[in-house]
Amino acid sequence: MNHRVGVIRGDGTGPEVVGEALKVLEAVRDGFEVELVEFDLGAERYLRTGEVLPEEELEALRGLDVILLGAVGDPRVRPGVLERELLLRIRFELDQYVNLRPVIRYPGVKALVPSHSEDDVNMVVVRENSEGLYSGAGGFHRKGTPHEVAVQESINTRHGVERIVRYAFELAMRPGRRRKVTLVHKTNVLTFAGDLYQRVVDEVGSEYPDVDRDYVHVDAACIYFLDQPSRFDVIVTDNMFGDIVTDLGAMIQGGMGIAAGGNINPEGVSMFEPIGGTAPDHTGKGTINPLAAIGAVQMLLAQIGEKAAAERVDRGIRFATSKMASMRAGEMGFSTSEVGDLVVEGAAG
Ligand code: IPM
Ligand code: MN
Repeated sequence: MNHRVGVIRGDGTGPEVVGEALKVLEAVRDGFEVELVEFDLGAERYLRTGEVLPEEELEALRGLDVILLGAVGDPRVRPGVLERELLLRIRFELDQYVNLRPVIRYPGVKALVPSHSEDDVNMVVVRENSEGLYSGAGGFHRKGTPHEVAVQESINTRHGVERIVRYAFELAMRPGRRRKVTLVHKTNVLTFAGDLYQRVVDEVGSEYPDVDRDYVHVDAACIYFLDQPSRFDVIVTDNMFGDIVTDLGAMIQGGMGIAAGGNINPEGVSMFEPIGGTAPDHTGKGTINPLAAIGAVQMLLAQIGEKAAAERVDRGIRFATSKMASMRAGEMGFSTSEVGDLVVEGAAG
């Protein structure tokens, strides 16, 4: 078996964490080949050539089996350019409609909230990744005048909502999950979009009698993340709410340095990434935690069907976190490559 893996190392700490992630990938690779296809995309390329994502490269991405992304973004580039024209463009063009973000507390990781026990935090957020407020619909009217109007519309299609809700119910049935789907929305105020989501959850949910259904407003969900995270197993939510609650989720799992995510097209090309961004404070210092990128490799392996290798990465991560005294940003106590080495050691055992 040969997998063609696209690699976008990107900006900031992206290249450093991707280096460690690929080291782990190579260590757990057994019985299959990996062909790495490198893409020079991100701030450096844009500043050098003015190009963000040329057509030929988008076409090349479409021909891969899967993609690993480090991070994109740079203070020298106007906000929105790389986010919309590179990251969101790939998500949309490849129709990676699921943004899958597990929130797992690994062994030994310090809790941010002292009342959380080791097992309290074990959920997965299924964030809609192809529409909502991210669709780019809207515009200005009378821009720059005192009567300016800025409209940003949330697009929610029956097709889009149904496929993400179905994905969440299927996920809730998988081994190791607790068979509960919670819709997180704001149905009391967003009475059109929220109503569609709730109806679809009820309709699709009725096909899964073994899965419990729950509903929580997004503001209340923030309270429960801190106060009672164990009430969540699978969360399904729209693009914007999913963006916000997964940063909070990352913090309760131990920090942005360990939060991994996948942009998944179950029938197409998916892309996995650490969700923490470029971390300018850490860039070039060898102090960034690579576990999020390594977790992204674990998810990537699971997606391409290399289950045994994915399990070895999981063992490696758990070994590493057990060994590390403290996991929060800035107080890791280990260098980036030492953490990678620990994962490799644990994956071998
Ligand atoms: C994320 C990021 C992106 C998002 C940005 C960089 C466009 O915050 O992956 O969560 O909003 O989806
Ligand atoms: Mn985000």
